[in-house]
Amino acid sequence: MKGKFYITTPIYYPSDKLHIGHSYTTVVCDAVARYKRMQGFDVFYLTGTDEHGQKIESKAKEAGVSPKEYVDHIVESIKELWELMGISYDRFIRTTDDYHVASVQKIFKALYDKGEIYKGTYEGHYCKPCESFWTDSQLVGGNCPDCGRPVEQAKEEAYFFRLSNYTDRILKLYRDNPDFLQPQSRVNEMVNNFLKPGLEDLCVSRTSFSWGVPVTFDPGHVVYVWVDALSNYITALGYENDRFHDFDKYWPADVHMMAKEIIRFHSIIWPALLMALDLPLPKKVYGHGWLLFDGDKMSKSKGNVVDPIVLCKRYGVDALRYFLLREVPFGQDGSFTNEALISRINSDLANDLGNLVSRTVAMAEKYFPGGLPADRLAQPVDDSLTSMATTLRPLVEEQCDNLQIPTAIGEIFKFISRTNKYIDETAPWVLAKNEADHPRLATVLYNLLESIRIAAVLLTPFMPHTSPKIFAQIGAEENATTWESTGTFGLLSPTVKVEKGEALFPRIDVEKELAELESLSAKSAKVEEAPAKQEDQKPEGVASLIEIGDFAKVELRVAKVAACEPVAKSDKLLRLQLEDGTGTRQVVSGIRQWYTPEDLVGKKLVLVANLKPAKLRGVESQGMILAADHGDAARVIFVDSDLPTGSKIR
Ligand code: MSP
Repeated sequence: MKGKFYITTPIYYPSDKLHIGHSYTTVVCDAVARYKRMQGFDVFYLTGTDEHGQKIESKAKEAGVSPKEYVDHIVESIKELWELMGISYDRFIRTTDDYHVASVQKIFKALYDKGEIYKGTYEGHYCKPCESFWTDSQLVGGNCPDCGRPVEQAKEEAYFFRLSNYTDRILKLYRDNPDFLQPQSRVNEMVNNFLKPGLEDLCVSRTSFSWGVPVTFDPGHVVYVWVDALSNYITALGYENDRFHDFDKYWPADVHMMAKEIIRFHSIIWPALLMALDLPLPKKVYGHGWLLFDGDKMSKSKGNVVDPIVLCKRYGVDALRYFLLREVPFGQDGSFTNEALISRINSDLANDLGNLVSRTVAMAEKYFPGGLPADRLAQPVDDSLTSMATTLRPLVEEQCDNLQIPTAIGEIFKFISRTNKYIDETAPWVLAKNEADHPRLATVLYNLLESIRIAAVLLTPFMPHTSPKIFAQIGAEENATTWESTGTFGLLSPTVKVEKGEALFPRIDVEKELAELESLSAKSAKVEEAPAKQEDQKPEGVASLIEIGDFAKVELRVAKVAACEPVAKSDKLLRLQLEDGTGTRQVVSGIRQWYTPEDLVGKKLVLVANLKPAKLRGVESQGMILAADHGDAARVIFVDSDLPTGSKIR
């Protein structure tokens, strides 16, 4: 064994079915976990679900079931999805698991006993009928997002973690460990937006809802979100419980992987909590970008085409995995479109990889049905192929070690292209015509099969279902499929016999496929529209129906973010200068936890233009911008950049 390697995904909110964006993190971690295992590391890959909180409590209430019943069936569907996608996790933690609950209670008490947690008062927007506190960004039009009624400022008793004591230590952590938080742009975000202004203490308990881990020494309080959620990374190993005994072996984590909106929790709050507990810190926190959905193509009614289950069934698991791993430069945002997915499948998988395998195997079978003859004739043209083959692994490893999976796969596909070129250079079909050229033909085919073998071994972490199919076709024995085997050219038997199989990735007729997807979407849109047409039928989850005239009172306009900066002494608010077609106005929005000014400047979004001005933290806000709930986060609704600023939205 080369040592241990502990990698985690965030734990997912089981409030709804997971979409392809969630699969992104999980597939990337799976690829890294598989790569490390093949290299000989003792890997522990953790994933799970984050099941407590007000949102789940409200959703369960709406559905008329207990919160546990509500999450149970969603968690099952998440596990099924991971199975379908070939996710090789070693443990699945649920924050409702008894052992986790007990460990969190001990952690909370330990922090309290050390003076790291104290009792104070939480202030926020309170909805009396729903008995719920809401943050600025959760409010819809200033009202309760659940029932639509007005909210009032209210206070509740709560415990706070002394996060403000940790500003300097976290800054030092970043300075001393340049690899701790990646990509580097995230360090700048954290330093400029949160650490330089100074950290504020963090609310870690609530009394306004009960679906959470109870605080043992103060009945009525439940542990609020992050102490519960983040602790999963250690409780799942057995920290403060007897259920597992893996903590000493695997902690600290080698990589915590997540998308950028929860970087702050992992790179500031989590290390501070660990420091408070005197525990070692994770080695790396990596915040990748978002998988965005093409605005034109993606809508609720078309949800089926971005459902990972639908995509896996349509194109195969490995095609989807390949797309997720290859398409988006790692660390940046990237778009998901059906066109891009189909084009990747056709060009890279069907054309480059699939054709290479099927042409080579077909020729080997046709020219030497009993297996390759032992006579050989090498030529200098072979050297560039064989040397590229044996030097490929270090290139792939260098990229994988930096978590640059798309580039690692790119290196393998450069080699696949080179191998395809070798077929053109050596023209085996010409050699086949003349018996005297058969030793040369055997060499060419052997070199092709070996090159395919090496590429397939290196592709195994990314496409775990495809590589074994290739091995079966090219007659690779087990010893020729290990990671180490890629350093040697010539591990297939000299008289190897191939066995033709099905096409690995059948070519997709783009136009036909897109038309079919369109009609599928249209059908599902019809199904969704149907109940809404019936008079007065209130769709599920909607608080109350309004007349079209009510809606017309709201003036929505396209606005462009001209400038943006954090509001001083607030870790939630951003001050935006918006061009609205008539001039520039200032809007304050509670989205700082999820967006940096750089994320917003230059973008176009939806402005509620006729909202009465209000003051937030003493700063005047002339309107508000629209955002959608995503778990506990908010996502701004951006619009196409070619829509003119000031356009009316109706
Ligand atoms: N429960 C918290 C995490 C707690 S970890 C201690 C949470 N859950 S979530 O279900 O809302 O999101 C989990 C993760 O899903 C995100 O951090 C991100 O990694 C991933 N993604 C969700 N949507 C995504 C995209 N559209 N694109 C890429 N990743 C996305 O946050």
